[in-house]
Amino acid sequence: MNTKIKLATIALAVTMTSSLFAEPSYTKCIACHGANGEKVALGKSKIIKDMSKADFIAALQGYQNGTYGGPMKGLMAGQVKGLTADQMEAQATHLGLK
Ligand code: HEC
Repeated sequence: MNTKIKLATIALAVTMTSSLFAEPSYTKCIACHGANGEKVALGKSKIIKDMSKADFIAALQGYQNGTYGGPMKGLMAGQVKGLTADQMEAQATHLGLK
């Protein structure tokens, strides 16, 4: 195997490994909130990457039980339906929240 092919193989392996760490339950959030939670979703939401982990999880649970949200909370209720506590935790980790 020549060096170029070796390097390409390593690069591919690294890419595949990092996609394993991407949080699958966050994939559907990307369109509105951005890959790293950096967007104001539909011109309405907070920038979620700037939230604390506690606030992020409290917001998601609040959307689930109807105790949190602004004018578009109905939309978010649909998004968080069925999310488990573990998935919320993994999303917070994915976004680098503290
Ligand atoms: C169709 C666009 C859309 C998608 C998809 C979406 N969101 Fe949202 N999100 C919004 C909007 C709009 C708001 C503000 C809702 C409101 O009025 O409370 C929001 C609010 C939030 C908030 C609270 C921020 C605040 O403004 O108080 C969090 C946390 C959040 N979203 C996380 C997620 C996660 C996690 C997912 C994926 C499971 C997701 N969102 C998917 C549009 C979206």
